[in-house]
Amino acid sequence: MTASGTATVRAHANIALAKYWGKADVVKNLPAVPSLSLTLDGMRTTTRVTFDPGLSADELELGGAPQLGKPLARATKLLNEVRALAGVSTFARIHSHNDFPTASGLASSASGFAALALAAVSALELPLSRDRVSALARAASASAARSLYGGYVELGASAESAARVAPPEHWPLCMLVAVTSEAAKDTGSTDGMQHTARTSPYYSSWVSDAPRLFAEVKAAVLAKDFERLAVAAEQSALAMHASMLAASPALIYFRPATLAVIEAVRAARRSGTPACFTIDAGPHVKVLVEPASAESLRRALSGVEGVLRVLESAPGPDAARVSAQLPELDP
Ligand code: PMV
Repeated sequence: MTASGTATVRAHANIALAKYWGKADVVKNLPAVPSLSLTLDGMRTTTRVTFDPGLSADELELGGAPQLGKPLARATKLLNEVRALAGVSTFARIHSHNDFPTASGLASSASGFAALALAAVSALELPLSRDRVSALARAASASAARSLYGGYVELGASAESAARVAPPEHWPLCMLVAVTSEAAKDTGSTDGMQHTARTSPYYSSWVSDAPRLFAEVKAAVLAKDFERLAVAAEQSALAMHASMLAASPALIYFRPATLAVIEAVRAARRSGTPACFTIDAGPHVKVLVEPASAESLRRALSGVEGVLRVLESAPGPDAARVSAQLPELDP
């Protein structure tokens, strides 16, 4: 059956406070460990999907540039699942825009696949729950399951879809993102996880301790206990990186500026500023801070050598449909 329809969706990036790294099932893309993230208001992907019977293949444009190869193949795989659910064979045109650097460890795949899943489902008017859309996004990129929801969000070990832990207003912390490079990373997270699982003697320790760190992070978020959150979130990030550092050859995402920012955050916390850091599969450092201390810390981090700029974000909302005419997609 052919179908036509279009929808535009905005989804927000999320940053894990308890990290996901490793797959329980590579084919189904199920995570080996539970994770908990904060969705960010200030980092967004806007995506329009148009199913058009006139197309002979899917088309993907990212930030105005046509994409082929792996990015297009990953988008097509997600669209194939949506087409199968809808019982249609029509190809689609995808226009997508990130308002932050793409594929550099800034969670662009999370907001990207969350936006694509919801836009495709909406364009075909499929009556799916948010939970089902989260599962579609998760099959493309596990962290994307979490970007369907705003606020604090969890994705259990081997879970099909994410679930809300608390809404954005529960604890309006501020996230500063110290950007240390505009380049795309060398090793994507899927390859990095497989490599770590295959070659790192610390991978099994990471997988066995991650549930404890997740439980600590979740309890701290629910109790709004900053010090408890800081200790557990930093240990989760560093334990994940320790498993990568022990891989063969080592997977090192840290740059000199990454360590310099970590040092600045530790110094700030020692002198009483409620702040903690986390690092994903990239060189940037994400810093969680109480809003009252955000401006002074932002200035301090901007002065660290190697920091290009500092983005600032509050907790963000659910992924949602938006009006079709948008300046970022229709300049
Ligand atoms: O969903 P992926 O394949 O992009 O993996 C994300 C992995 C980390 O960002 C490093 C951690 C996380 O939980 O988001």
